[in-house]
Amino acid sequence: MTTPSNTSAASATPYGTLPPSSTPSTRKPLSLPRLREMHAQGEKITMLTAYDATFAAVADAAGVECILVGDSLGMVCQGLTSTVGVTLETMRHHTECVANGLRRSQATAWLIGDLPFGMYHESNEQALRSAAVLMQAGAHMVKLEGGGWTADTVRFLVERGIPVCAHLGLTPQTVHALGGYRVQGKGDEAAATLRRHAHELQDAGAAMVVLEMVPAALSATLTQELTHCPTIGIGAGKGTAGQVLVLHDMLGMNLGKMPKFVRNFMDGPDNRSASVRGAMEAYVRAVKDGSFPVDAVHAW
Ligand code: KIV
Repeated sequence: MTTPSNTSAASATPYGTLPPSSTPSTRKPLSLPRLREMHAQGEKITMLTAYDATFAAVADAAGVECILVGDSLGMVCQGLTSTVGVTLETMRHHTECVANGLRRSQATAWLIGDLPFGMYHESNEQALRSAAVLMQAGAHMVKLEGGGWTADTVRFLVERGIPVCAHLGLTPQTVHALGGYRVQGKGDEAAATLRRHAHELQDAGAAMVVLEMVPAALSATLTQELTHCPTIGIGAGKGTAGQVLVLHDMLGMNLGKMPKFVRNFMDGPDNRSASVRGAMEAYVRAVKDGSFPVDAVHAW
């Protein structure tokens, strides 16, 4: 008798698959339509950074919907003083590590790869080549920083089938031009520019926009206005469509002064098992039920 070799649920994936090393998830895999559905239904979207297979798999198992392989890895993994020195090859490597981890576990998370400094600034073609490197390493979406000139790049990538997450407000790759890690969009003129950039990015097809260190009132207004593009806040108040934190920050692994917008989820009664997975689950619960962030504590 011949036994069909592909009878597991995993075999439903076309173009080849890896055998799952743990029980397949009952959760639906994240996809752009699913993210749009969550946005339309007002369900908060959770995102964390991860840079390796194991942390990514644990975040996935904890219910984190989006995993960002952020170029913050330059600071938290490589010990650089900013994200400016991160190369495309480093981003490719870590994106591949995370993609491997997700594939080997429950593989429901949406994986975003950060385009590093200088790798999308020159031309749309350069952006496409860089994005292709991250997509081929396993990313489902790429993220790029900045407004104004980036709208054309976003449109170019989206038209070629690459989902894009934009990033406005404090854009760490331009920290030297901004004069430090400070709140952006304060004052009428700066707020109007940020707002215009956000609308341009939505019109260009960006499927998400990270708002970093933006006054809570402005990001809440933008969240209402951007009906096709969920806002993901970090230091942008509770009014955004979702939240993101840097993994090491939310695990309390920050030896310096903790940024105002971070909560240490390793600490406190919410982390029921006092474990990394418990911290991530507490983060997911707190974002979903609106108890994190607290505007009076974590925002401007
Ligand atoms: O690189 C990163 O981790 C990021 C987040 C802070 C949004 O861009």
